[in-house]
Amino acid sequence: MTATIIDGKAFAATVREKVATHVARLKDEHGITPGLAVVLVGEDPASQVYVRSKGKQTVEAGMKSVEHKLPADTSEAHLLALIDELNNDSSIHGILVQLPLPKHLNEDLVINAINPAKDVDGFHISNVGLLGTGQKSMVPCTPLGCLMMLRDHHGSLSGLDAVVIGRSNIVGKPMAQLLLGDSCTVTIAHSRTKDLPDVVRRADIVVAAVGRPQMVPGDWIKPGATVIDVGINRIDAGAGKTRLVGDVEFDSASRVAGAITPVPGGVGPMTIACLLANTVTACCRMHGLAEPEGLTA
Ligand code: GUN
Repeated sequence: MTATIIDGKAFAATVREKVATHVARLKDEHGITPGLAVVLVGEDPASQVYVRSKGKQTVEAGMKSVEHKLPADTSEAHLLALIDELNNDSSIHGILVQLPLPKHLNEDLVINAINPAKDVDGFHISNVGLLGTGQKSMVPCTPLGCLMMLRDHHGSLSGLDAVVIGRSNIVGKPMAQLLLGDSCTVTIAHSRTKDLPDVVRRADIVVAAVGRPQMVPGDWIKPGATVIDVGINRIDAGAGKTRLVGDVEFDSASRVAGAITPVPGGVGPMTIACLLANTVTACCRMHGLAEPEGLTA
């Protein structure tokens, strides 16, 4: 069997188009421009690349983009004051504080200072609780993107066995909640899971989010299963070069799986597309307007 490749790059483009269409309608019919504020503390090169990309795509979708770049030694009080200002700014509907923060800043405290209605990352404890109890919330972008691709591929996910490998607050846990919300039978596996290969072999859906390059080989995959690879790992490719690989061994897995996301070009592009979707959703909710269809959980 050769797996269908789930093209995240193309899918993300359709999500961005839907967002742009909805943004245009919000402007035309209601005079509202959704606004996203991204806060970056320090000079982490990877974070700078992400933030630039977020700003560019926000503008391309017709939205307002604001970037706050603060020095690495910014005090907690200063950062909290900025968040308070953005919470009270009616032109801003989404606030994202890029993680990781420098060590002297308390991430939980900072994230929980964001107005939950503007928390487009879905990391605020209120949104975590709402998602966990099956209520309307802001949903973390990466798992939301994975869910969209799974729904698109399968139609209904009801009754399917899903194994999520990885238990992070950003991906693993919310992914499991979303799959449960779509009536999957969900297992969260992690570094201490016994007989991990056998656990994964039971799954109709495997979501790998551990951050270990090519950790999941093809012989762990049930024939015909759908594999969503969240990992983005840079490895040595010899001759002084590097290349990006996922948490799944793509070549062997794609000979067994029914469908698989590649790295790069799978989950990655969906994350920012879902950030834009969340910003529009937040804007609509704040104004009591109909939410865009197909862009929320
Ligand atoms: N750093 C890496 N991924 C993310 C994300 O999804 N949101 C935020 N805020 N920071 C990140």
